Parts: sequence; structure tokens; C-alpha cells
Amino acid sequence: TGLFPIGPTDPYAFATGSTERAEIAAALDEIRNTDFQVASNIAGKEVRTGRTMAIQAPHNHSQKLGELDLAGPSETQAAIDASLDAARWWGTLPWEERVAPFLKAADMLEHGPWRAKLNAATMLELSKTTYQADIDAACETVDFIRANVKNMLDMYETQPGSQAGAWNRIEYRPLEGFVFAVTPFNFTCMNNLAFGPAVLGNTVVWKPAESASLVAHLSLQLLREAGLPDGVINVVYGTGGDVGPTALGNEHLAAVHFTGSTGTFQHMWQEVGKNVGTYRNYPRVVGETGGKDFILAHPSADLEALAVACIRGAYEFQGQKCSAASRLYVPRSLWPRLKDRLVALTEQIKVGDPTDPEVYVGAVINSRQHAKHTEILARARAEKAVVVGGNTDDSIGWFVDPTILEVTDPHSPLITEEIFAPVLTTYVYEDSDWNDVLRLVDTSTPYGLTGAVFAEDRRAVEEADAALRYTAGNFYINDKPTGSVVGQQPFGGARASGTNDKAGTVWNLIRFASPRTTKENH
Ligand code: SER
Repeated sequence: TGLFPIGPTDPYAFATGSTERAEIAAALDEIRNTDFQVASNIAGKEVRTGRTMAIQAPHNHSQKLGELDLAGPSETQAAIDASLDAARWWGTLPWEERVAPFLKAADMLEHGPWRAKLNAATMLELSKTTYQADIDAACETVDFIRANVKNMLDMYETQPGSQAGAWNRIEYRPLEGFVFAVTPFNFTCMNNLAFGPAVLGNTVVWKPAESASLVAHLSLQLLREAGLPDGVINVVYGTGGDVGPTALGNEHLAAVHFTGSTGTFQHMWQEVGKNVGTYRNYPRVVGETGGKDFILAHPSADLEALAVACIRGAYEFQGQKCSAASRLYVPRSLWPRLKDRLVALTEQIKVGDPTDPEVYVGAVINSRQHAKHTEILARARAEKAVVVGGNTDDSIGWFVDPTILEVTDPHSPLITEEIFAPVLTTYVYEDSDWNDVLRLVDTSTPYGLTGAVFAEDRRAVEEADAALRYTAGNFYINDKPTGSVVGQQPFGGARASGTNDKAGTVWNLIRFASPRTTKENH
């Protein structure tokens, strides 16, 4: 299949058959040969400022996919006005009318040419392999959309008890105002941050990451082709500084729905705090942020399962997942054998253009991220922490070697600070220090997103389960800490990793509803 030997072999993944491969190849050509002019879309109309930046393929930065027009404060204000206008009628429609365009879009994405098209754009703009693009842009997007509808109906069914002489009911109103959705560069499916609230009857000002503008543009185009009315989702492309202050300073801000860095989320929350007396409603603040996700091996761990989890957890999509495995704690008795296996597997990996089916690791998203990783790995080399990999190259694309590091100080920034690259940092503990290492895993980072324990010894599993209760919102036993599936492993973490509202669940959706209780005597 051209996939890395220990890589995914999911039979449902796209492009495992020759028809799908031909479709993907044609879609890649089409995207490569189109000069996309991406601009903000407000009430169904393209709005341009003439201030632009290039849309590039990260693995080949001389390959221009198009140009992105950057919005500023006045376009953001226009998007807010359009959202408030649309809120007057969108939120009053029967739910069947609201869900129809979304369900139609999910069908078009699952079965039609849109699947190859959005996958190809995800491969070229985000530097994902065919498999990674398909499980993101197609499978998870479709899952999210269908889950939104199911969750909404479950929520509507949740009604209060009655009493003699009165009818009690709850109406799940959309929020009053507009939702500000801010989506990240790393998952096309996270565009659902704009879709979920909209299904419920909210209207949205959506700011995608600049580095994921083409996939946002195409996702909106898909929804519009599926019949989404103008004004329900208004997209403004721009930097945080261009768009954020206008959106966060508006008195009608009803919610922030965010995925991205911890720093940006904290900054946005501070802005909301600063403006709190000026809003018509207290805005809901829902965010999914960073992680420093762990794999903890017990001496009883299955070595091969552990090695595969390290490779897949740390390297898939270049480690650019908030869930990516980035710190590994391994007992001294296992380390020599595990190290040999990790080095052998890492050396087999082909890094490069992910449209080449032999490639397992593509490029990191942009020059800014690449420069940061280059500096971190230079520090690692200076500290003699590199086990394998450790270099970067930006001559053709923004490449970072799949890398294993080993530190002797468990509080080194190399094992406590988020990197967002295919870098796994190891700390070797003494076999007799199991209880100490449990404490260390829990306390040495501010995050609480994902983590995995590998142990065949049941008592060790239970000890880890108890000691790491707040260390991960998604906890895995004998599996890698990535790849949650909508409806199966509700995703999200607490501490500095977010508000833990679990993407794709009814708990998330309810944050975008403003329930009204009615008691009617009869
Ligand atoms: N939900 C993804 C995962 O579990 C990360 O965003 O890997």
C-alpha cells in the first residue's frame, strides 16, 4: 500500500483501492493547477482588502497554491453584522431545515467527488499523507456533522418532569448574539467548531488559521453547495490581531469556540475578562489548547506494542496534534531493547512530499514553526540528547527529522514544554521508582490532555489509572495517546489543555445553547 510498514492499515481508509487512488491523483492535479484566490465570505459575498499572503505547500514552499486575502477590523465588523442579521431567522427555523444542508454536505463528502477534493487540499496545504488526510478531512468531518445532529436531538429530548396542573418544558434556544469560532491549522475536521454551534441555530463569525485557509475555503464551499444559507457562517481570514479585538470587543459576543495554542487561548480569555461588563450576555468560552502528552511504560509492558505506539503517537502528522506523544517514561530494564527498536523503525521512515505514497512524515506547517523546531533541536544536539534524528532542513520544504531525544533531567524543557513536531523525549527511570515516576508524570507539565500507560501487570494499570486521574482527559491503556474517534473516545483535556468540553459530544453542544424553562399551568 505504500504505507509505512507498521503504519495504518485501516480498510476504511480512502485510497487503498485503485479507483480511489486515481481519484486522489486527479484531485491533487486539479488543486495544484488551480490558482486559488481565497477571500473572506460575509453574507455569501466575497470581500477583499487587497492585503494578501501566499498559500504554500509546506513540503515544497516554492509550490504556490494560491493567495489569501487578509481581512481587518472593518470586515470583522461586517461579519458580525451579517451574523446578527441571520440570527433573527436562522435560529427560529425548525431543526429539520437547519440540519438538512449539513447532512447533505456529509453525504457529499462521504460519497462524491468532494471526498478526494478536500483530501487533496488537506494533503497539499497541511502536508498530510492520503491516509491522514482521509481520516481527518473526510471521516472525522462526516462523523462530527452527524454527531452534531444526533447530539442536538438527544439534548432536545432532555426535558424536565411534570407536576399536577402544570406542564414544564425546556427550549434549547441558540445563544443570543454571535459565536466566534477560531480554528487551528492541524485538522480540517476542526472546522466543525463553526458547524456545531450553527446546527443548533447559532450564527457564526469564523476565523480559520491562515495556514489552513484553503481547506476552510473549500469546506465552506461544500456547505454552500449543500444549501447552507448565506449569513449563517461568515468567514474572515486574517491574523489574530486583525480579527480578534473586534470580535472579542463586541457587545454581542455570545461564545468563543477555539482550538489552538494555550497562549492564544489565555490571551483571548483575558480580553473577554477585560470586556466582561460590556457584553449583553456572559460569553461561553470553550477551548481546546496545548498538550505535552505522555507514554508511560511499566517494566511489564509489551515492547513491540509500545514501540509502535511511540512511533505512531509521536510522528504521525509530524507530531502536529495536541494529542501527540511527546514524552516517554521508560524503565531502565526496557530501555536498551526499546531504544534499538525505535531507532530501527525511525530509520525506515521516509520524510518528504506526502503525496508520494512511500512518505510517512511530511513537512511542518510553516516557516515560523520550522524556525522554532530548528532552535529546539540545536539545543538538544548541544546537550547531546539526540538518540536518532535531530536535524531540520528547509531547502525544499519545512522538514523536521523524526526524532527521539533522551534527557537525564526529568524537568528539562525538552520533556516539559510543548514542541508540536515529530519529537519524542525520553526519560529513563529506575524500575524500583514506579511510584515516583507516577508523581513525575502527573506534576512535571501544566497540561492535562492525553496520555498512555503500557503495562501487562494489572495492578500497575490500576495504580497508573488512579495516580494519573487528572493528568489526561483522554487516557489510553496499552494504546497510543492519539486518534480518538468521534462517538467512541470523546476528546478533550483539562488543566492548561482546555475547558474539557469534549468535542463532538452533547456536553460540548450544550455550551452553545441557552435553555429557557417554561412552566404553563393548565
Ligand atoms: N482528536 C485527535 C486525536 O485524538 C487530536 O486532535 O488524536
